[in-house]
Amino acid sequence: MKEKKINKWEPENFELEMTTHWSFPNRGDWATHDAKWHGNWSPYIPRNIILRYSQEGDLVLDQFAGGGTTLVEAKLLNRDIIGVDVNETALERCREKVDFDYKLAKGKVYIKKGDARNLDFIPDESIDLICTHPPYANIIQYSENIEEDISRCKIPEFLGEMKMVASESYRVLKKDKFCAVLMGDTR
Ligand SMILES: C[S@@+](CC[C@H](N)C(=O)[O-])C[C@H]1O[C@@H](n2cnc3c(N)ncnc32)[C@H](O)[C@@H]1O
Repeated sequence: MKEKKINKWEPENFELEMTTHWSFPNRGDWATHDAKWHGNWSPYIPRNIILRYSQEGDLVLDQFAGGGTTLVEAKLLNRDIIGVDVNETALERCREKVDFDYKLAKGKVYIKKGDARNLDFIPDESIDLICTHPPYANIIQYSENIEEDISRCKIPEFLGEMKMVASESYRVLKKDKFCAVLMGDTR
C-alpha cells in the first residue's frame, strides 16, 4: 500500500440529488479523485447512483472503468465492484486510484482487462447495479490501435457495438435491478 496524504475522504455537505437536473460546479476532489483521465466523470455522479440504487455489500459493475472514478466511490461506499476496461493504461490508473487504506472503506475492487461487449467471466444475473460511462462514440479516442476500443467507432458502428453492451448488461444484471449509463451528446 502506497503512502498517500489524503485529508478529505468524502464531499463536504453532500446531499443526494432529488431532481432530474444535476449540476456539479466543483467536480469533486476527495479521496484519490482528480481529472487526469481524459473525459472522466465527476465522482458526484457515481456517488449519487450508487447510494440511490444499491446497498452496502452489493456487487456493482463498471465495464468502462477508465480512470477508476466509480471504483473509488464503490470502495468508499462499501460496495464490491468489478471494473473492466480494454485499455491497460486505464487499468493501471484504476489500480493506483483504489490503492488506499481507509478504515471506513470496505468495498472490494476487482479489476479485469476485458471487453464490455463480452463479459463471459461474469455469471448471468450476478450484478446488483451497473454504473458506467462509455465513450461517446469517437469524440474522445482512447487508443490508436486497441481493436476492441469502441471509442474508435463512428456513430453508426458505435450504435451496433452499444447494442451488444446493452445485451451483455441485461444478461449479468439481477432481475429488477438498475443499470445507469452516462452518455454525452456528440458535437
Ligand atoms: C469515458 S471513459 C470512462 C471514464 C470513467 N468513468 C472515469 O471516470 O474515469 C470510457 C472508457 O471506455 C473504455 N473502452 C472503450 N471500449 C471499450 C470496450 N469495448 N470495453 C471496455 N472498455 C472500453 C476506454 O478505454 C475508456 O477508458
